[in-house]
Amino acid sequence: MADQSILAMIPAAIHAADFAYIPYSHYRVGAALRSKDGTIFTGCNVENSAYPACICAERTALVKAISEGIQSFDALVVATANGGSPCGHCRQMLFEFAPDMTVLLVDFSGTVHVATTLRDLLPYGFGPHGME
Ligand code: THU
Repeated sequence: MADQSILAMIPAAIHAADFAYIPYSHYRVGAALRSKDGTIFTGCNVENSAYPACICAERTALVKAISEGIQSFDALVVATANGGSPCGHCRQMLFEFAPDMTVLLVDFSGTVHVATTLRDLLPYGFGPHGME
């Protein structure tokens, strides 16, 4: 089970989902990403009529943090109606910065469906060291 400080991020992830722009899928996602200094960056999915331009909640949170100069993370909470799992694009982008962070997948009632690490979600993942 995740430690108490990560469980405390769950409401932020659920709240972030309120802002999802989802006219096409109607699938609401919220994310809360914690930097190693304890700052929480939230994100929601933002869809587009040109479907490939959609961005997931996890990457919204990540790019918010990176664009503010933060590159180290230790925890991610993803909230959906059904405890859904991050897509491959999100796993890959997050792996670049925080392969060993804790990841919680929760539903909108706050129930934890999965408590794991990013490395377990992306086994043998390709990261910056892969080009050395
Ligand atoms: N989505 C996310 O926000 N995160 C994921 O990791 C999986 C998928 C979004 C993208 C799209 O807006 C909707 O969920 C359906 O795929």
